[in-house]
Amino acid sequence: MRDDKNEGHNPATTELTPPQQSRRDFLEGAGATVVATAAVPVLGVSAVQAADSPIPSNAAQTAIRLTVNGSIHNLQVEDRWTLAELLRDHLQLTGTKIGCNRSECGACTVLMDGEPVYSCSQLAVWADGSNIQTVEGLARNGQLSPLQQAFVDHNGPQCGFCTPGQLMTATALLNRNANPNPEQVKQALVGNLCRCSNYNAIVEAVVAVGNQPGGAA
Ligand code: FES
Ligand code: FES
Repeated sequence: MRDDKNEGHNPATTELTPPQQSRRDFLEGAGATVVATAAVPVLGVSAVQAADSPIPSNAAQTAIRLTVNGSIHNLQVEDRWTLAELLRDHLQLTGTKIGCNRSECGACTVLMDGEPVYSCSQLAVWADGSNIQTVEGLARNGQLSPLQQAFVDHNGPQCGFCTPGQLMTATALLNRNANPNPEQVKQALVGNLCRCSNYNAIVEAVVAVGNQPGGAA
């Protein structure tokens, strides 16, 4: 799949380029809702739009194929991009947050084949062939997932910056243990820091989902 010379691209592959973004665009985007309500796209091959005014780059590139929130993407990515950059800057999935950008805070957590990973510390090329779920993929048909609703009900988000990562790690926990106790929740979320120190409410929310009839994230 590697294509360092940037020649002979698969015509079905979309070459992504960094979008032109003004400071105003950035500030407006930063206000996005933390408990995302976007519906999961219907499974299919998506056409990701390249920027109208691409920034030339001589960086090595690789063609990858991955599934993000149920949609299959064939993408031409730069080898230096992290998965977080790919999701946020090129697929416009800005629900995934970047806090420390060095594997310490967990704000960037997404699920890769069901397992929580720090997307700031995964290269996009390493995600080739994988199934990625982001916070945008939790809601179904405009309905918050039970876990998202529990975060709302228990005041899980304060500033909300850590919330997407907390939700993704807790989703993975609930997928393998539908009824975790508080200690199990604390252990699972140990890699997700909350600078607002809202840990008690977050643990309560996750435990509450497990206690619901039918549980599940
Ligand atoms: S932004 Fe990835 S761990 Fe902090
Ligand atoms: S709610 Fe503010 S960092 Fe967790």
